[in-house]
Amino acid sequence: MHFSDLGLVNAKQMFKKAMAEGYAIPAYNFNNMEQLQAIIKGCGESGSAVILQVSSGARKYANQIMLQHMARGAVAMAKDMGYNIPIALNLDHGDSYELCVSCIESGFSNVMIDGSHLPYEENVALTKKVVAFAHDHDVTVEGELGVLAGIEDDVVAAKSIYTQPEEVQDFLDKTGVDSLAISIGTSHGAFKFKPEQCTVNEEGVLVPPPLRFDILEEIEEKIPGFPIVLHGSSSVLPKYVNIINEFGGALKAAVGIPESQLRKAAGSAVCKINIDSDGRLVVTAMIRKYMAENPEVFDPRKYLGPAREELMKMIMEKNEKVLGSAGRY
Ligand code: G3H
Ligand code: 13P
Ligand code: ZN
Repeated sequence: MHFSDLGLVNAKQMFKKAMAEGYAIPAYNFNNMEQLQAIIKGCGESGSAVILQVSSGARKYANQIMLQHMARGAVAMAKDMGYNIPIALNLDHGDSYELCVSCIESGFSNVMIDGSHLPYEENVALTKKVVAFAHDHDVTVEGELGVLAGIEDDVVAAKSIYTQPEEVQDFLDKTGVDSLAISIGTSHGAFKFKPEQCTVNEEGVLVPPPLRFDILEEIEEKIPGFPIVLHGSSSVLPKYVNIINEFGGALKAAVGIPESQLRKAAGSAVCKINIDSDGRLVVTAMIRKYMAENPEVFDPRKYLGPAREELMKMIMEKNEKVLGSAGRY
């Protein structure tokens, strides 16, 4: 199954336009129907291109055949609602050649091969092999150099190993990737920094250390005009963390990347910004609140509906106020 049969596009044109106009394409992860509906409606309503992301964990959770049909359904739903936005489907953190091949054969239009934890030459060899297969199918490929702090799927990094600008040109030449994920201080999940790494502002909110924009600038100088990807870019919005904690949750000292930092990154060569945890937090907050306030309800639509609605709103706000991708289509 080729991705065009599902109505999807690869990332090439999206990145070209984002680079030229100084914004970033949102890449939102999904695992179920409600998340997917919220992403499509949120991006459709805000006139933003979107990259739908599926991790290997999501693939196991939802089933690969189901996902293929969900992607087809998402594109059809977007058209039916009158949204004229490009939609790509990306494998997030692909960890083997075989997984990338399987996703490409089932209709993914972009794959990430994450060899960032491997020794440099092994990362190059694996990424190059994936690119050869992917490009034969018109599928675009994201590689990664540098390791994010925290948990990158099965890869546990104690602390981030920032991308070395001197390596990027060589990596691009040897692999032929279409975009490059870099490490400049972001990390996955809802606990991106320890409280002792942060300062506290007047409202008592933890403020993390700034991203390493100096490294980003050096990279941009080495590979001008090349699309850069930022993983681990949820802001861990206090609004939702607070609701979770108010209604029985235990997310103490959760901290993310401030929106101002992401806004700055989106105006640079960063063309794709990955957001998963913020969506998880919205859904959990709304469900916790609904359950606590409506203990007699047992119809899943009653609590999943408001969660889906709030997720859509959060996505629209991000597209408009953080990524700058709203209104481009
Ligand atoms: O970067 C990782 C994504 O947030 C996916 O997470 O492996 O739990 O689906 P997951
Ligand atoms: P967050 O955990 O910050 O949402 O990052 C998601 C991500 O990088 C997916 O690849
Ligand atoms: Zn990631």
